[in-house]
Amino acid sequence: MAESFKSVQESQVALSMLMLPSHSNFGGKIHGGYLLSLLDQVAFACASKHSGHYCVTASVDVVNFLRPIEVGELVTLKASVNFVGNSSMVIGIRVEAEDIRTGEVKHCNSSYFTMVSKDEAGNKVTVPGLLLRTKDEVRRFLAAATAIRDREQDKQAKRNLDPASEASKLELANHRVRVNLAEK
Ligand SMILES: CC(C)(COP(=O)(O)OP(=O)(O)OC[C@H]1O[C@@H](n2cnc3c(N)ncnc32)[C@H](O)[C@@H]1OP(=O)(O)O)[C@@H](O)C(=O)NCCC(=O)NCCS
Repeated sequence: MAESFKSVQESQVALSMLMLPSHSNFGGKIHGGYLLSLLDQVAFACASKHSGHYCVTASVDVVNFLRPIEVGELVTLKASVNFVGNSSMVIGIRVEAEDIRTGEVKHCNSSYFTMVSKDEAGNKVTVPGLLLRTKDEVRRFLAAATAIRDREQDKQAKRNLDPASEASKLELANHRVRVNLAEK
């Protein structure tokens, strides 16, 4: 059967929510956990639209809260598929908050969710390929591919760390740590 492809636009999702007092923390700003829940929801919707199946969250790449979000602001989360593997997809999400009275918009967060497509029985499902139509889409795809490769290399390097090596001793010497191993 011929492989199917879908464009990035076909699965793009935007969600706007007014931030209510019930979403705030003790400092009067919006709870980070509430925003994480919204991020997960748009990632799920976007990935499921692309794959045509429900998806699970496999991992989340750094979530930096760049600016606090205030009660009364209108938050918009925009999600699109940046990368597809076999059963996995990287969903890029941009979060902006708008002061409704002034119209001022601030960028609050950009994050990357890896979602895996599953069928009714919980088995992984191969997702459609991605049709890239703009230079930005190509750039985002390549950036995600590079990040995945770098992460894999980093994982391997960490597995191979030797606590007794000269490099490890030099590294430890730069930190506020005392090493007193019980085992020899
Ligand atoms: C994530 C999960 C599907 C991976 O399953 P697995 O059997 O270990 O699958 P594999 O190692 O074959 O990986 C499947 C795909 O997921 C990707 N993947 C797995 N773990 C990943 C991780 N931590 N980060 C990014 N991608 C990951 C793999 O690269 C692979 O991608 P590909 O199919 O595009 O090549 C499985 O561990 C799972 O279902 N976890 C629970 C998810 C969940 O419940 N999330 C909500 C938490 S409350």
